[in-house]
Amino acid sequence: MKVKHGFIGFGNLAKAVYQGLREEKDIEFAYFARSRKEVNIPYYDKINDLVAFADVIWLMIKPQDLSTILEELEPLDRFGKIVVSPVAGRNIAFIERYLGKEQLILRIMPNLAMAYRKSVTAFASNQPENENAVAIFHLLEKLGKAVRLEENGFDLFTAVFGSGPAFILAFIQIFKEKMQEFNLPGALLDELLLELTQGTTLYFSQNQKSYSIEQLIQNITSKGGTTQAGLDYFRTHEIGKHFEGILDAAKNRSEEMSRNGD
Ligand SMILES: NC(=O)c1ccc[n+]([C@@H]2O[C@H](COP(=O)([O-])OP(=O)(O)OC[C@H]3O[C@@H](n4cnc5c(N)ncnc54)[C@H](OP(=O)(O)O)[C@@H]3O)[C@@H](O)[C@H]2O)c1
Repeated sequence: MKVKHGFIGFGNLAKAVYQGLREEKDIEFAYFARSRKEVNIPYYDKINDLVAFADVIWLMIKPQDLSTILEELEPLDRFGKIVVSPVAGRNIAFIERYLGKEQLILRIMPNLAMAYRKSVTAFASNQPENENAVAIFHLLEKLGKAVRLEENGFDLFTAVFGSGPAFILAFIQIFKEKMQEFNLPGALLDELLLELTQGTTLYFSQNQKSYSIEQLIQNITSKGGTTQAGLDYFRTHEIGKHFEGILDAAKNRSEEMSRNGD
């Protein structure tokens, strides 16, 4: 029998999950949102119908919309169903206040690379040993790396792996802006930067079992050379510490959102 996955909200993340899972056999999808989207799966314009359809209910809405949706879910028959929440800054206890402690709730923190089965996803549950929870964990493993994590680790995890792709791209954007001096078309610059990042990732992945990151950097650095000059600047100006500040700011914001419910 096919497992029915229902998305409440169909924005960036829901699209990524759908793209990552759509080739799976034994899965069916549908969604509910305020308006119909350009996707070839059934659309329900009433939340009740989506919940009646779904075995797995994905909460794919923004944090500020979560309370409204949970109030709508509260009176509905959710017996035997699984609720999956990727919502940043909202813990399991928050959802239990509306849906009760008997409701199987999975809190996850993925990123958009779910679409390419390359997400790094944190996982926590109020019933971690429940066979349905374990089944969803295995499904998440198909979408990249999945890791069980205590909920108090979610704020840092959100900063590093949820927001991480944006930070890495912001770094690549600095390279791109510098390359404007070459007077080459923007699309070509993107291609060159893509090759640079893919090449670097491959270099990392091929060697990570034998070498530390520090050693891999050393391999590209000759004494008194260009890389050395750049790395000296990096260290003297404590760029690493500033970069860490980006992660701390994101983590602090996640903690703040959890506290204030905003
Ligand atoms: N994007 C990421 O990389 C990422 C990573 C990790 C976690 N998350 C979490 O995932 C969640 C979704 O993020 P997202 O980027 O996918 O958001 P998004 O692109 O803004 O999508 C939100 C969706 O929610 C729907 N929605 C809002 N209010 C609704 C309501 N009252 N009833 C029905 N549908 C409603 C919207 O539908 P309409 O368009 O019809 O209004 C839209 O389809 C967030 O809580 C975020 O914290 C996101």
